[in-house]
Amino acid sequence: MPVSISTTASLYDRVRRVIPPIEWPAFSDDIDAILALKRERNAVILAHNYQTPEIFHCVADIVGDSLALARKAMTVDADIIVLAGVHFMAETAKLLNPGKTVLIPDLGAGCSLADSITASDVRLMRQRYPGVPVVTYVNTSAAVKAESDICCTSGNALAVVESLGTPRAIMLPDEYLARNIAAQTKIEIIAWKGHCEVHERFTPADIRELREAHPGVTVLAHPECPPEVVAEADFAGSTAAMSDYVGRHKPARVVLMTECSMSDNVAVEHPDVDFVRPCNLCPHMKRITLANIRAALQQNRHVVTIDPDVADRARRAVERMLAV
Ligand code: 13P
Ligand code: SF4
Repeated sequence: MPVSISTTASLYDRVRRVIPPIEWPAFSDDIDAILALKRERNAVILAHNYQTPEIFHCVADIVGDSLALARKAMTVDADIIVLAGVHFMAETAKLLNPGKTVLIPDLGAGCSLADSITASDVRLMRQRYPGVPVVTYVNTSAAVKAESDICCTSGNALAVVESLGTPRAIMLPDEYLARNIAAQTKIEIIAWKGHCEVHERFTPADIRELREAHPGVTVLAHPECPPEVVAEADFAGSTAAMSDYVGRHKPARVVLMTECSMSDNVAVEHPDVDFVRPCNLCPHMKRITLANIRAALQQNRHVVTIDPDVADRARRAVERMLAV
């Protein structure tokens, strides 16, 4: 059954500040079809904070940062989970709710951090640092998680590292997240050389220029940014933490040093806040579109599968994180 024109119009009301009216007709047919397909197939869409507003605000059922998506994936009751995000997020959903069909609309939606390390690299780190626990960022493949003691996200990394009760910890693979956590704890952190291709491009000079051009602007940064950037920001936190900060503090003017769609999605909720928009696009997140979400639901593609032995070991590391 098609969605009524008034439903689609009320959806447009929600996003009119960030989607120009001329673009809306290109989206409304796919939105209408996706809402109907979700009902027909008993499916839910989980969308990361970096998804574009027509996905995030118009078809997603559950939105959030990597930690929230993992937690909520566990409790999904529907038959199908469509992960509007990148591949490691879809794998995490499958690990935590293995009985469900998990679909990723584009198999090429990867992550430079996940690509920076393999399972054999983790084994080599263990040989090099015997007895030191391995904390692995969720932005990794299931095979890498399977070699790890515990996972973390940008939202809980400090709590995870401090839960270990050890003087040293290996944090893989994001060098900058590791160094940003090292600055907040007495635990010695051993890092890897992986970087997020989006956040590594921000510099302290960017922040200084922004402060000069927009006096009084509040600068929020993701902890995947280099430590020198985090040091000059007013606050650093996960995508959910940045969004909460805007809601709590209501800065008159704010800049989010992160992926571009974040500002659009948060701006929809906070019309009174002025968002300054230098940002970097994540090409992997941008592979997900309304058209391929629709095709995923119509053609049941691409089904996420994980080798059962790898899945058991990877699940242990993710569940251990969720228990912290
Ligand atoms: P969050 O967990 O903060 O949403 O970050 C995920 C991510 O990929 C950031 O680049
Ligand atoms: Fe990976 Fe960076 Fe894209 Fe996040 S923004 S998915 S860390 S490449």
